[in-house]
Amino acid sequence: MSVPVLTIDGPSGVGKGTVARVIAQQQGWHLLDSGAIYRAFALAVDSRSIDISNEAALEEIAKNLDLSFKTHKDSELVSVYLDDQDVSKVLRTEQTGEMASKIASIGVVRAALLKRQQDFAISPGLVADGRDMGTVVFEKAAFKVYLTASAEERANRRLKQLQAQGSEGIISQILAEVEARDARDSSRKHSPLKPAKDALVIDTTELSLDEVIAQVSELVKA
Ligand code: DC
Repeated sequence: MSVPVLTIDGPSGVGKGTVARVIAQQQGWHLLDSGAIYRAFALAVDSRSIDISNEAALEEIAKNLDLSFKTHKDSELVSVYLDDQDVSKVLRTEQTGEMASKIASIGVVRAALLKRQQDFAISPGLVADGRDMGTVVFEKAAFKVYLTASAEERANRRLKQLQAQGSEGIISQILAEVEARDARDSSRKHSPLKPAKDALVIDTTELSLDEVIAQVSELVKA
């Protein structure tokens, strides 16, 4: 029997991760943050000072990536370990996101990381978020969602998030970063960001987090 999978794709800063976490908790399903895999891979490449045009070396690193996730009881936090080192903090920086976005456009990298992602689909179910969960990695998923929001709204959300963490940000700079990442993730040749044909597309620009969660929850329960 195949395991039920819910895919949540969409551009950066749209809130996929939060929605995925809540639905996974509601359903008692596993969670795959595929962006974290690309981010960790980018860190691994960066620490080895490898030229990203060396595809054979990239493939070797991708295949042997020593990566593990640790969920904490009574907390939403997931710690990420790369080569036994806790990289959770550096993983989330804008710089790591940029590196991940660049390296994720390389076909051999995506192919080498494919099975690692598919292996997350174990009983009783999986919520997977990313860019190509519904179009490539879990093409046959039972439930597919594509979240979107205007770049301005996503930049505003990011600014608020930074401020809540006690950091600062310049809205024009954040907006430029969001737009650059959208352009790169959507225009690449391999697994570009786009909604799967059978995905429920939700524009979250005018919606609260609770409203988005309610719509996704309804889809899964139906
Ligand atoms: O979702 P995120 O911001 O953590 O992802 C970081 C980058 O990784 C994103 O800009 C593109 C890449 N990525 C991808 O190509 N495919 C995925 N399924 C997830 C992330």
